[in-house]
Amino acid sequence: MIKIEGLYKTFWGNEGDVEALKNINLRIEKGDIFGIMGLSGAGKSTLIRCINRLEEPTKGRIYIDGKDITKLDKNELRDMRRNIGMIFQHFNLLSRKNCRENIAFPLKIMKYDKNKIEKRVDELLEIVDLKDKKTAYPSQLSGGQKQRVAIARALATNPKILLCDEATSALDPNTTLSILELLKNINKKLGITIVMITHQMEVIKQVCNKVAVISDGSIIEEGNTYEVFSKPSHKVTKSFIQDVSLNLDKSYMDNPDNTTIIRITFLDEKAKEPLIYKTIKKFDIEINILSGKMSSIQERTYGNLVVGLRGDEKKVEEAIDYLKNQGIIVEELKLNGSIN
Ligand SMILES: Nc1ncnc2c1ncn2[C@@H]1O[C@H](COP(=O)(O)OP(=O)(O)O)[C@@H](O)[C@H]1O
Ligand SMILES: [Mg+2]
Repeated sequence: MIKIEGLYKTFWGNEGDVEALKNINLRIEKGDIFGIMGLSGAGKSTLIRCINRLEEPTKGRIYIDGKDITKLDKNELRDMRRNIGMIFQHFNLLSRKNCRENIAFPLKIMKYDKNKIEKRVDELLEIVDLKDKKTAYPSQLSGGQKQRVAIARALATNPKILLCDEATSALDPNTTLSILELLKNINKKLGITIVMITHQMEVIKQVCNKVAVISDGSIIEEGNTYEVFSKPSHKVTKSFIQDVSLNLDKSYMDNPDNTTIIRITFLDEKAKEPLIYKTIKKFDIEINILSGKMSSIQERTYGNLVVGLRGDEKKVEEAIDYLKNQGIIVEELKLNGSIN
């Protein structure tokens, strides 16, 4: 378990100070695939690098399995790092060494016995499905294969935690999926806690059970991935999700002044019910669909629909009350997409 308390990081520079992290508090449970999502420059890399102390925190505490790692001396730090693997966007492989040598590298540094190293490298090549590339050099591998080698190297010392800094950002969509599948399997089969930093919401949606959104050095929203993405509360999170209502435009409607606009969010089974049809029938009003999107997060469905209601004023009100009582989220919107 990783617990971060009151973490700050300031970079002091000639052109002024950068407060890269401001009072970060997080709790990552054993076995989580925990996503940290944010725009470029938000502080993601700084945060993940504090977890293995590649970056020294300015203030605050980081506990790993109850031990405050900000207090460790050099030797203790080396032991601690054995329990934390890390992978990067650009793989960081040694170009003059082949796959086997790259993967063996951390084991050699830790002075493992030669036979043990050979055995472990074979095991790791099996895990990442690269047995046939044992003697290939990085330049002879595709991006996805390079990341597999990097994953094998990160797992060499049997870490309990794997840190991933934009691990799929340099890969095409299909390769991204295969790397995410591999990480999911590793999490499940080996019980490794994974912390994943990314600016790609799709990555979080695919694999993370929990997510924290970081903006300008602060965590602005966090929780279970489905809850955060289906009911985002902060505007930065909403912008990631490309909330359908943000694109609302008067030109979508022939008579906007007589139209009440609402956004409906359907969760799980509710997404499959014909609620719009039922409402039209029951209240005899017009319902005009302005925009909409169905998505799935970790095999759960959610739908987002913006509609315009028109008709007898009282009936429109009743229809909105009816919808609100159907276990879905209903928000009235202004024309610019903001909530009334
Ligand atoms: N070594 C450094 N020296 C000075 N400023 C830095 C350093 N590393 C990062 N920063 C600054 O800290 C902020 C957060 O950077 P970073 O953690 O790399 O963001 P992200 O990974 O989310 O893109 C940025 O404003 C960046 O310029
Ligand atoms: Mg970064």
